[in-house]
Amino acid sequence: MMDVQTQKIEALLAEMTLEEKIGQLQQCGPSLVGAFEVSFEELLDMMFDGRISQAEFGRLMSTAEQDFHEEDLRVGKIGSYNGVGDALTANRLQKIAVEETRLGIPLLFGYDVIHGFRTVTPIPLAESCAWDPALWQRTARMSAQEATAAGVHMTFAPMVDVAKDARWGRVSEGAGEDTLLNGDYGAAKVRGFQGDDLAQTDALVACLKHFAAYGAGEAGKDYNRVDLSLQRLWEEYLPAYKACIDAGAQAVMPAFNDLNGVPCTVNDWLLRAVLRDEWGFEGITVSDANAIAECVNHGVAADRQAAAKQALQAGVDIDMTSNAYSENLQGLIEAGEVAEALLDEAVQRILKLKFELGLFDQPYRTDAEKEKATLVKPEYRALAREAAAKSMVLLKNEAVLPLQPQQKIAVIGGLADDAGQMTGAWAIGAHGDECVSLVQAMDATGIDYVYHPGIVDGSVASDAVNQAVDAADMVILAIGEQKEESGEAASKADISLPAIQLELAEMLVRTGKPVVAVLFNGRPLAIPTLAEQVPAILEAWHPGLEAGNAILDLLYGRVNPSAKLTTTFPHTTGQCPLYYDHIATGRPGGKSKFTSKYLDTPLEPVYPFGFGLSYTTFAYSDLRAEKRADAVRLTVTLKNSGNRAGEEIVQCYVQDKVAKRARPVKRLAAYRKVLLQPGESIEVEFEVPFEKLGYYDQRMDFVLESGEFAFFVGGNSRDNLAETVDLMF
Ligand code: NOJ
Repeated sequence: MMDVQTQKIEALLAEMTLEEKIGQLQQCGPSLVGAFEVSFEELLDMMFDGRISQAEFGRLMSTAEQDFHEEDLRVGKIGSYNGVGDALTANRLQKIAVEETRLGIPLLFGYDVIHGFRTVTPIPLAESCAWDPALWQRTARMSAQEATAAGVHMTFAPMVDVAKDARWGRVSEGAGEDTLLNGDYGAAKVRGFQGDDLAQTDALVACLKHFAAYGAGEAGKDYNRVDLSLQRLWEEYLPAYKACIDAGAQAVMPAFNDLNGVPCTVNDWLLRAVLRDEWGFEGITVSDANAIAECVNHGVAADRQAAAKQALQAGVDIDMTSNAYSENLQGLIEAGEVAEALLDEAVQRILKLKFELGLFDQPYRTDAEKEKATLVKPEYRALAREAAAKSMVLLKNEAVLPLQPQQKIAVIGGLADDAGQMTGAWAIGAHGDECVSLVQAMDATGIDYVYHPGIVDGSVASDAVNQAVDAADMVILAIGEQKEESGEAASKADISLPAIQLELAEMLVRTGKPVVAVLFNGRPLAIPTLAEQVPAILEAWHPGLEAGNAILDLLYGRVNPSAKLTTTFPHTTGQCPLYYDHIATGRPGGKSKFTSKYLDTPLEPVYPFGFGLSYTTFAYSDLRAEKRADAVRLTVTLKNSGNRAGEEIVQCYVQDKVAKRARPVKRLAAYRKVLLQPGESIEVEFEVPFEKLGYYDQRMDFVLESGEFAFFVGGNSRDNLAETVDLMF
């Protein structure tokens, strides 16, 4: 017996023409038209190759208008939009869909709400450093409330692409290099975005991406091939996506890359056998932008028609902006080359989601008034500030922090006075001028300070900088990356700081005044010299709307730093990919020449995964491991050995010491964040279930192999207590 919703879907489907069905699969990205004669793509090229300046490009864009292809919408040829982020426009388009199309099927609006909509929170890489699922969920709920108030129904997030190569620009968009953390981060985001009930007007569908292993692109180059053993795919990459499916994500975006030669967009093994058959996913799939058509470039489809056929057969429901479906599916179906049943399945899934969102009953979930009342509420700002402070990692502190309010400060570096840069990559709904820069935050405190950008017209402004520093007790140096240097299409062959910034840092160090470096960046940076020379470093990432306030919360000790790196900081780009859960090799890196290492760089990273300091100190002792029926229980004594209350992120790693397939030297198995008062001591417990100790053998069977397992517990991936347990399965 069919339920009522299924009956409605079936009834609607029976009424739909082929064209209308294909229309449901068509996601339209508004195109730009305006006061220029050339296409948007040409205009972009003109800016990139210097024929027009960035400012001129910006001016032209500001005069451009969006074309929503309403003529197509009216005849049922558009089922969803990408990039409409305001209630007025969304409702206007929705009205056309509901009132003017033959069947009145409502539209679905998708948008990239990656780390906040208007209230921009820290970039995902930063927020992951809080190791705090409750926080991740709260900020996602806030994003959902704002985005849905602006007419958005679905976000193209979370991204849970495990990223071990710092050269990749998109490391900024995920939760770092670890599998468990990416899964926990993604699952919390899914829960936060979607809320308890999709029919609530503030529920935002989570479109999990990029399925799969986009973060494993060769040499960290964006869109590059992913050639990966199935064992590593299943052990290190797929579990994070699976965690999001288990958390109830209703949409999945196949990745741009190919996986072992087959682009994910047409990869039926991935999208059908794994995602739907094995994992039981029943939601929709949405291609990445233009990705169906790009299968021609991949060289797996002769033309766009062949690409459309392969993508539908692989199970891609929505074509994001390539028009390959709208141009080709009708012909393919009429010629009998593609079964109409395949199209029907896709339409059914899309309609189901629209029903579940309640769009048939309530196509307008918001209006301009609600939008205005919701965006950037004071409590949202407060949460953005809390999230930013919990995401910044104190990397070094030789007794210079926290700062004292009576100290005179010289703030040096353009990033300190650039509010718009604080959003970081992928914050398309942000208003940069709503961000608080470090200088603005200093102004509000009444602290005695001077500011100078330090670098003017490409050179260090030595005289002016010296003058500023002369009168100061301390220097805050704001350096790092522009937001455009990370995110999509922002891979780098060199992840060190630009020479000019290092020159500025060195000059400041020579003044003899203590320098606190505040880093703004969207990826791990290679900063060996800086790490050696300056007495304090705060990794602020791109912290979002409340950047300046959160930085001062930490620098002045109003908040005790607690974040820990979720990504390794190498000495030099040549070490990439450098990550903590590597295997030992037959010649583990060591002092001897004939071991696995580089001649010209130290073996250890500058800062290891899991590392981060606090204004207090923590002492670990007495690690005990106990075998239980189906788990190992670990208990450790943790003491706040300093004189401030502080939070510690306690990390538990495991190593399968001997197995038929080489296992990682350490892999994160569990973690916990605990608050301790000065002098307080507690027992921290972990249960590591046996099934977390298994692996895929050469035949791809998942096995639990008896033998010795080492467990490590500590405050980062390098400095741990260890216990070995003999396990028989
Ligand atoms: C391309 C990106 O890869 C993806 O992450 C994003 O969601 C889409 N464009 C839509 O903007």
